[in-house]
Formats: sequence, structure tokens, C-alpha cells
Amino acid sequence: MRGLTVDLDSRIVPSEWASIGRRLAREFTAPVALLDPKGPRWYVDPAVEICPTPESALSWANSEGILESHRAALWTPDGDEGPTWLGLSIPINGETEGLALAAFAGSQMTERKGLGPPCPENALKAWGQSVADSLRADSALRPVSPHLAGEDYQLIARLVRRLKISDPPERFQGLAASALRATLRIWAVAWVPLSSREQVVVGGPDPLGTTVWRGLAAEGVGHTVHFGPTHPYINHTGVESFAIIASEGQSPPGHIVAVDASNHRKFSSGEVAILQAVASMIGTQRTNGRIYSDLKELLFGVIRALTAAIDAKDPYTSGHSERVARMAARIGEELGMHSNQKSDLYLMGLLHDVGKIGINDSVLKKAGPLTPDEYRVIQSHVEIGVKILSEMKKLNHLLPGVAGHHESLDGKGYPAGLMGEAIPIEARILAVADSFDSMSSTRPYRRRLSPSQITEIFRKGAGVQWDPRVVEALFNCHADLESIRQKGLGDSLQDVVRETLNR
Ligand SMILES: [Fe+2]
Repeated sequence: MRGLTVDLDSRIVPSEWASIGRRLAREFTAPVALLDPKGPRWYVDPAVEICPTPESALSWANSEGILESHRAALWTPDGDEGPTWLGLSIPINGETEGLALAAFAGSQMTERKGLGPPCPENALKAWGQSVADSLRADSALRPVSPHLAGEDYQLIARLVRRLKISDPPERFQGLAASALRATLRIWAVAWVPLSSREQVVVGGPDPLGTTVWRGLAAEGVGHTVHFGPTHPYINHTGVESFAIIASEGQSPPGHIVAVDASNHRKFSSGEVAILQAVASMIGTQRTNGRIYSDLKELLFGVIRALTAAIDAKDPYTSGHSERVARMAARIGEELGMHSNQKSDLYLMGLLHDVGKIGINDSVLKKAGPLTPDEYRVIQSHVEIGVKILSEMKKLNHLLPGVAGHHESLDGKGYPAGLMGEAIPIEARILAVADSFDSMSSTRPYRRRLSPSQITEIFRKGAGVQWDPRVVEALFNCHADLESIRQKGLGDSLQDVVRETLNR
């Protein structure tokens, strides 16, 4: 995002501009800046970092006719990478017409720090228009737009805030249909997907049944259907009804079908606009949900492939990464860590030795004692692991644990020789889980140690090599770690991948 040089003068915000700016920022949960077209100059809250120059914003507003026609419009000056700017015409002091710009993450998949929530473009425009109309109504300058009332934009705003790509699409569809039904006071509303493999989602009780909903949706976008007792879509209640079918785009994934139980009432153009905006939100959430689930599969596959590569590289330690992952997560739980920290520990455990992929087999699988040079080669697996994970943005948060799992509390570990608290807690936990699993497993050069030998080694090493709090946690959940070692109980990778993507 480009930065804007705002001269100090323009940061002075007269009270009315300031209160309108605050109100808009609250409505949109987005950064908002106001432009006085007479300057042109910005009136901005000092907290707002804003990108277009006043001249470019004004020339865009003029080209869209925003100030004269009091309509909301969208602007993406930096192309896909930049924010979507929502431009509104706002009344100031009963005489001046000002321009407000709010910055949104557009309909992109994830929210971007400091920007408003992502939202499909026509829903964003409808939201902006209704907020501008409501401001205008408050200032009693011009009549309120007949299209949208306050409740309607609250509905759009509420749904925008619930647009989560990690939610199952049916949840958002149900929420949207129920919200439409309650807000527009419609008898029945449903999302009817085009694919017969997907379910019809009805907001509230279903008075019609799937066949009737599908039949209505087949009438096509923009159609109203009047159906009484003689109509092929027999209405179970016998009341005469009107239906409207709304959708968005050339090849929509489905339709919103709204049915009113009285033929005295027709749907207004404002209600149709709301139905279309919500249909578009459902389409966006559904598409993004699919991308999200593909990403989840991809990340799942990458982690599994990396873990399998580590196991294939060193068959003697096969299953070690999985066990360390589960043990580290269990010790984290014992230390009172939250579920996302436990998920991170699990992934760090799976990938802590990923750098072994880059170690020569003759050194890695050597059965006899290692020469000092060979030992240094083995040690380099930490740096190689860090390099591999640094390339994967979604796994960057695992680096502290992976980089520090061979550090020792007394500073005698590697690669950095960090001491005490300078070693990240995740690394201190991994070190204990890693050592516990190694000592409990038979290796080519030694048999597994007995439980009493392991306890003795940890007692002696607590405060020297290992964090004593972590060692204590290990003793406290020893029985669970033993069952993980024997049966492989613990977290599932799917849940952990979902948490990682949601970060
Ligand atoms: Fe290691």
C-alpha cells in the first residue's frame, strides 16, 4: 500500500467532520478518511493511514459522479493488490457535500490487517449506499432513499462480519436465509443451490419442501411467481404466495428464493437489491470456502509428505516425528497452553527434524561412533530444517521451535548456544519430548532405556539441559506419554492444519 504524505494542517479535524468520521469508521469497522472537495484537502483521523492523494480521489469521485448523485462507488487504484476504497457522498453542516473513503479488503480471501472486512463488491456498495442514505436522513437534508432502511444495512453489515471462509458454506447460507426472513419479514426464504448434490438451506421452518423450492428456483433469476391452490407448486398452507428469485453473476452457483404468503404485498426494488447482495455474498463465501479447503488439503499433503520423507530417510527413527509431535502437544497441555499453541507444538514436533532430509545417508545411518566432522554434519540438520520451513509462509511460525530443539538450558546446545529463557518455550518442550522418545526407543547403537533410567536422566538434566518446569510436566503426564509411545494417541493432523490456516 502506498503511503500518503498528509501535512499536519490537514490532520486538524473540526468536530462535525470528526464525529461523522468516527460514525463511519464504526459502521464499517474500517479506516475512513473524509475529503473536503473545495480544497481539495483530507480531514483525517490521525490514526488513519490513507493512500490516494486528495486530487486523485477527487478526480475519481468526479468521474463517478459521486458527489452530485449521492451514490456509493468502489475504487481499486492499486489493482488487485491494493484495498478496495468505498466512496460515499456525505452531507456536512447541512451545506457542504463531502467525500468519505473507507478502505476494505474487498472480496479477497482473507482480511488484511488494518482494513475493513472482505465483502463482495455489490454488497459493499449496497452497504455504503445505505449508510450514506442514513446519514442524509439524519441531517434531514434530502428525503431518505426509498430503497434501504436502517435495518437492511444492519443486516448486510452483520452478514459481512460473519463471512468466514473457514465456516462450512451451509452455516453461512442458513444464517443469511434466517437473517433475510427476520429482517425483511418474509414468510419463507431459502438458498437453492444449482447442483442437486447440494442441500437446499431454508432460513427457519420449511413450509414448502425441497421439490417446491427447486421448482421455484428453476423459474430463473428476476422472476416473480404467483402461486395459489391451482398452481403446480402446491402450497401446503393453501395461502396465495409470491416468490422472487434473486441471484448474482453470469453463472451463479444457486439462487435465493423468497416467498411471501400474501399476494397483496409485492417485493420492493430495495428488497430485491438486498436479496441480490446476499445471494452474491453466499456465492463469494462458497467459492472462497472451496479455495480454503483446497489450501487445507495442500498444506495437509505437504506436511504429510515432509514427515514421510523424514521417516523414509531414517527408518530407525520411523514414527519418531509423529510421537514427538503428540508428546509435545500433551506436555504443552499440561503446562496450560491454549489449543492453537498446542497445534503449533504438534506441527513443530512433526517437522522438527525435517532438515535430516538434507543429510547424507552415510552419516545419518552410520551405526558406529561419529567423527567430530560427521557430528557437525548431523548438527546441520537444524539449519537445513529452518531453511526448508522459511520457504513456506504458512509454516513460518514453527521456526522458533524447530531452530531451538537442540539448544540446552546451560548454553551448551546448538546451533546458537542459547541459554535459559532465551530458548523459546516451544523449543524447550520439543527438546524434552524429543529426548524422551529417543530414550524410550531402541536405536541401532543401543537398546531402549528402562523407565527408571529415563527418570534418572531427566532428574539430573532438569535445570542443566532441560527446563525444570517442562521436565515436571513430563513426569505429571508420564502415563499419557507412555500410551502415545505405545498406541499413538493424540491430535489429528486435520484439526491442526485447520488451526494453522486460520492464524
Ligand atoms: Fe533434531
